[in-house]
Amino acid sequence: MLVVIKKDYEEVSREAAHIVAGAVRAKPTIVLGLATGSTPLGLYQELIALHRAGSLDFSLATSFNLDEYLGLSPSHPQSFHYFMDQQFFSQVNVPRERIHIPDGTLSGDYDSYCGGYEQSIKSAGGIDLQVLGIGRNGHVGFNEPTSSLASRTRLKALSRETIEDNRHFFASESEMPKCAITMGIGTILDSRRVLLLASGRSKAAAVAKAIEGPITSSVSASALQLHVDVTFIIDEEAAYSLTQRDYYRHVLEMTKIFTPERLT
Ligand code: PGA
Repeated sequence: MLVVIKKDYEEVSREAAHIVAGAVRAKPTIVLGLATGSTPLGLYQELIALHRAGSLDFSLATSFNLDEYLGLSPSHPQSFHYFMDQQFFSQVNVPRERIHIPDGTLSGDYDSYCGGYEQSIKSAGGIDLQVLGIGRNGHVGFNEPTSSLASRTRLKALSRETIEDNRHFFASESEMPKCAITMGIGTILDSRRVLLLASGRSKAAAVAKAIEGPITSSVSASALQLHVDVTFIIDEEAAYSLTQRDYYRHVLEMTKIFTPERLT
């Protein structure tokens, strides 16, 4: 595990963009796992700027998004489809037919739809690089506390904390979906590389539990301790509750010596 502590959100976004852009250039046919939420916005802006400058091409890339609210159509302004279109896909050149986002309009046979999403990831060759945010309750995707650490793409009821954190995007709480389709923790752990981004003091407790706490289904992100290639890129505020900062810095210095292309 690598823990990269940056000064602020802008630096987190730049470092993440450096890694994602490097991965796309190294493997143009990359399969990206993408996240929504406020955290990856800066990353997407950096990637868009690189694309506009002509130094980043997504024409051979494939993407799979982590999750989508159940009950929202792609044109709903709070849907993750809409978010991804506005914030990223309309401004880069990932081919439409290779963009995958769970279908929030689904009704009925959820299991076979979710199994199909898993199958599409497999058929594309598996996710090379998965970008994650983290919820205050330690969720990744919508894998709320007590999600099985082996879970796959499925329907998931949202926790009270998640509903509270996101309800301000909706006119009223009753309009906020109470369920989502999300990749599972097992799905995420199958990615070849994972980047988790976090910014702000509100994430400090979840980040500390994920990195230094026991592996537990009460904190979904703690399952990333089982992954062989996970990098946490967090700002000082999100790192506030970590106890081993000096060690993480030392590990980072050594990593820069041995695999300098991976980090700035
Ligand atoms: P945020 O959400 O990036 O909007 O803080 C992260 C998450 O809930 O996974």
